[in-house]
Amino acid sequence: MQFHTTLQSIIMTAEPAAKLAAFRTFYAAYQAGETVFEAAFTPVLFDEPSFASVCEIVLPQDVPRRKSPVTAEGQILLLHAITHIEYSAIDLALDHAYRFTGMPKAFYDDWLEVADDECRHFEMLHTLLEALGSRYGDLPVHAGLFEAGQKTLTLLERMAVVPRYFEANGLDATPQILERLLPIKNDPMIGRIVDALQVILEEEVDHVRKGDRWFDYACEAAGAEKSVYFDIVEQCCPGSYPRQKYLNVDARRAAGFSCSELNRMSTEKVC
Ligand SMILES: [Fe+2]
Ligand SMILES: [Fe+2]
Repeated sequence: MQFHTTLQSIIMTAEPAAKLAAFRTFYAAYQAGETVFEAAFTPVLFDEPSFASVCEIVLPQDVPRRKSPVTAEGQILLLHAITHIEYSAIDLALDHAYRFTGMPKAFYDDWLEVADDECRHFEMLHTLLEALGSRYGDLPVHAGLFEAGQKTLTLLERMAVVPRYFEANGLDATPQILERLLPIKNDPMIGRIVDALQVILEEEVDHVRKGDRWFDYACEAAGAEKSVYFDIVEQCCPGSYPRQKYLNVDARRAAGFSCSELNRMSTEKVC
C-alpha cells in the first residue's frame, strides 16, 4: 500500500463511515510496516473540502447560531458544530502526513496517531448526534479549517496555524462550553456530552504538544526564531493577539507554550 497516494484517497473520501474505515485499514497497514513511501510524490492542492458533498458550506457568519443546550435543538446545534470540527481535524491531520514528504518517521507516527484520535472524537460525538435523531450533514457548516490548511503549505506555517493556533484555541473553548453544561449535567444527554468533551479536551493537549514539537523542528530547519509564530498567526488570522479572551494557561503550558508566549497572547499577564 503506497503511503501518500492512499492518504490522498482517504482525504478525498467524503462519507464519514467510509473515510474512517479506509483510514483504519491504512493505519493498521502502516503500523504493521506494510506501507511504502513513494520514491517521488507531488501532493495536490484540493479545490474543495471532502465534506463539500456531505454538508452545505456557508460563510462563518451564516452558520446557525447556538441555542440553549437545555433543548434537544440546542444540543444538536452544539454537537453538530463540534462534530464538524472533528471531521475537519481528521482531514487536516491526514493532510500533514500527506503533504509533507520526506519527513522523519516520527512525524508520520505523530500525525497518524492524531488522525486516529480525531476519528474516535468524531465517532463519539456522532453517536450522540444520532441518539438525538440527527446526523453529520444535517446542518450547514463553514470551511474555515479547510481554508487554514490551504493557506499553510509550508511545515512552519502549517504547524503554527493548525495545531498551535486552531487546536490550541480549542483548549480555551472547550472548558467554556463545559462550564455552561456542568450545572445541567444531570440531564442524561448533557452528561454524555460532558463526558465526551472531557475526553476530547484531555487528548487535544497532546495534539497541540505534537504541533509544538514539529513547529520547533520547522523553526530549526528554516533558521527561524520561535517568535515567528506571531507573524504567521497575524498573517493567517489578523488581530488574534493580544486577546482579552480566556486562555487555558495550564493546558497550553502542558502543550509547550512558554509563559512569555502566553503573556504576549493576552492583554494581561497570565503566566
Ligand atoms: Fe479532536
Ligand atoms: Fe485535535
